[in-house]
Amino acid sequence: MPVSLPPALGLSLDLLRCPTCRTRRLHHDHGALRCRGGHTFDIARHGYAGLRTGTRATSGDDAAMVRARDRFLATGAYAPIREVGARLAADAVSGRGTVVDAGCGTGYYLAGVLDQLPGARGLGLDTSVRALRSAARVHDRAAAVAWDVFRPFPLADGAADVVLDVFAPRNPAEFHRVLRPAGRLIVIRPTGRHLAELRDQVPAMVTIDPAKEQRLHRALDPLFEVVVTEEVEYSASLTRPDVLDLVAMTPSARHVSGADLNDGGVLPDQVTVSVLATAYRPR
Ligand SMILES: C[S@@+](CC[C@H](N)C(=O)[O-])C[C@H]1O[C@@H](n2cnc3c(N)ncnc32)[C@H](O)[C@@H]1O
Ligand SMILES: [Zn+2]
Repeated sequence: MPVSLPPALGLSLDLLRCPTCRTRRLHHDHGALRCRGGHTFDIARHGYAGLRTGTRATSGDDAAMVRARDRFLATGAYAPIREVGARLAADAVSGRGTVVDAGCGTGYYLAGVLDQLPGARGLGLDTSVRALRSAARVHDRAAAVAWDVFRPFPLADGAADVVLDVFAPRNPAEFHRVLRPAGRLIVIRPTGRHLAELRDQVPAMVTIDPAKEQRLHRALDPLFEVVVTEEVEYSASLTRPDVLDLVAMTPSARHVSGADLNDGGVLPDQVTVSVLATAYRPR
């Protein structure tokens, strides 16, 4: 049986452009999205649109990472990060608006923004099919699209009021193209103190490169100027299962063995959460 058009995807259909011919709009037809040039893309039964073309990207969180992320975010330990994202987005959008979340994961942050903006619609992009299943259900105004953010987005020029990027890969040129001139890019990333206690105990966890801020600045500065940066730093109390999920949901999980976690014995029950959230305006 063809998949009917998920309501949240219907809300955002006018933003989408055929990823193959780039300019044509997509319309819903018998459980698929089609352009007038004859290109067809599936709507997964889990509710996200599969717009990716060509070879499959190898990046993207696997099922175990997504499950860990879902459980960890449900503890509320990162709620202050969600709040700062929602506040910065609300400053940029009044009433109706469109929020694109690049590397949306399970859609946790996008849902936080949409809760804050009752008139807005959201669209999350991610390569992880498992994450998209969650993102497609996370909010009744959030659509989810399978897409590699390093490729030109299947979205119209100037379509977004906010582009959100939380701990995710960035594509400055595409962020700039899809934002309207008065829109905002919101980038949330860890500082060097983020989860320091955990990094101390689990040496195999990937460290945060001290030059990261400089690289971010160099990449964004030609296209964006900073409006405001907020620092969010606090200590979070975690149970052992929370800590294991926190390790399992990060890219470090690919490098950390069970022995790394168990040999050291004590895992911290308090960790520093430390991020920077910057709102940028397009130049
Ligand atoms: C650290 S997670 C952050 C997810 C979400 N923003 C959050 O903070 O909960 C990074 C996300 O980027 C996705 N990702 C990795 N490479 C990607 C790519 N090239 N295009 C789109 N998404 C990608 C992963 O699947 C994962 O969901
Ligand atoms: Zn087409």
